[in-house]
Amino acid sequence: AATQQHDFVIEETPYTRLCHTKQILTVNGQFPGPTIKARKGDTVIVRVYNHAGYNITLHWHGVDQPRNPWSDGPEYITQCPIQPGANFTYTILFSEEEGTIWWHAHSDWDRATVHGAIIVYPRQGTTFPFPQPYQEIPIILGEWWNANVSEVLADALRTGSDPEISDAYTINGQPGDLYNCSKPGTFKALVEHGKTYLLRVVNAAINNELFFAIAGHQLTVVGTDASYTKPFTTDFIMITPGQTMDLLLEANQPVTNSTNNRYYMAASAYSSAVNVAFDTTITTAIVEYVNSTNSSSISPQFPYLPSYNDTNSATNFTANLRSLASEDHPVDVPQTFDERIIISISVNEILCPNSSCEGPNGNRLAASLNNISFVSPLIDILDAYYQNISGVYGTGFPSQPPFYFNFTGDNLPFSLLFPRRATEVRVLEYNTSVEIVFQGTNLLAGENHPMHMHGYSFYVVGRGFGNYDAEKDPATYNLVDPPLENTVGVPKNGWAAIRFRASNPGVWFMHCHLDRHLSWGMNTVFIVKNGASPQARLLPPPSNMPPC
Ligand code: C2O
Ligand code: CU
Repeated sequence: AATQQHDFVIEETPYTRLCHTKQILTVNGQFPGPTIKARKGDTVIVRVYNHAGYNITLHWHGVDQPRNPWSDGPEYITQCPIQPGANFTYTILFSEEEGTIWWHAHSDWDRATVHGAIIVYPRQGTTFPFPQPYQEIPIILGEWWNANVSEVLADALRTGSDPEISDAYTINGQPGDLYNCSKPGTFKALVEHGKTYLLRVVNAAINNELFFAIAGHQLTVVGTDASYTKPFTTDFIMITPGQTMDLLLEANQPVTNSTNNRYYMAASAYSSAVNVAFDTTITTAIVEYVNSTNSSSISPQFPYLPSYNDTNSATNFTANLRSLASEDHPVDVPQTFDERIIISISVNEILCPNSSCEGPNGNRLAASLNNISFVSPLIDILDAYYQNISGVYGTGFPSQPPFYFNFTGDNLPFSLLFPRRATEVRVLEYNTSVEIVFQGTNLLAGENHPMHMHGYSFYVVGRGFGNYDAEKDPATYNLVDPPLENTVGVPKNGWAAIRFRASNPGVWFMHCHLDRHLSWGMNTVFIVKNGASPQARLLPPPSNMPPC
């Protein structure tokens, strides 16, 4: 296992997209930021220098960080932000993951431009569970605003309404041909006929699930969230913010029939909510065959993308994801559980002090888990836990919703709308087997929620529509080869069940990866206690934790 070191300088850099130039936050001036490449078992040290005028933190999304929440990154959960002029060194331990994950800022919506791919290769001396691809192509899907992103967030919080929608989606930072002033920069992947490419796809969009496809080519899914899957071919994928997918692309189109030598890849929104505005534009990039006698002057073919409200296509795609479950990549799904936690997920309202908000009913939009809208503390929960500082958080996150109702029904009573605002965490004993059932609700609007957990990957053992039925639904679970993920799309007006063993002591954030919901409080924290042996205890904090 090797150790490598990188310097990441956070700085404002001018970028021009859609004919607008603005200062964006970048790492080392790059957008998207640098790709980190490591092998399973490696340690990567990233020294972050904050040369911007804002507080910031970085998070290594999908890295378990065994016993080391100190370097996990979510602001006011595991650290205080790195202040302007300050620096902090993250130590990233790659122990379990293999495949594609990513890193991103974890303060406000800075991750809109501060993000990059992480590629974890097989451990030294081992190989992919599929033939070695000729090359790999990172594909980072993002979302671009002409406005300053921190103002978009600040406006939404001030008015209490939905945030302004984005102006473009992007592929590797570029909106592509279909947008104003964007043609010259369009991302282009050059391929050779007869070769196979590994696409490492990251959905880094702030608020949108996306469909993605390539004209004239099928895609073979071989991994998700840095865990291998049973390969299956598909015409398109649906990928939720936070998720990653490894796809094989065979460059198998003819190069001598005098048609064209270029094919669009494209992404567009899958939007499950009915009354929430979203960006309806389409981002494109180009797959171009080199050594082809075909014409490059004909306009490239366009792929089929399901329509924005095609829940069947999204659901059927997701249902195909299963763990590889091979001898080299076994599954270890808990067959029973010590505790089951049922978490209802809602978009709600809270009262505006002077009832001047632009949200529904003159109130301000909020979001909650088990009817608690998470309030970010002023010093980080990890520090408070480690040093026994009282008054920062409570341990009352409930193991089930405070009241039962027809979660997914229509016309739910107004009285259910108002969550409690608090900083409540859930404490888990070391090494317990946990089942979490996420239950979507139809309070303000039913929609998919990509729930992400820090510190763990978990098995997604079940999923369904309607209200979870604890008698019947467990019989439908997949306890043989469920996918291992760090972000699970909880279906609109439905539920998802996950299982994991609480073997990673520390303080771990859990939240919806639609950032508008995160900012409204759709979050909680798990504190996993230390075990008895020295290898089952939290590592000591590094000496340079940023002060609050
Ligand atoms: Cu991708 Cu809490 O993060
Ligand atoms: Cu959500």
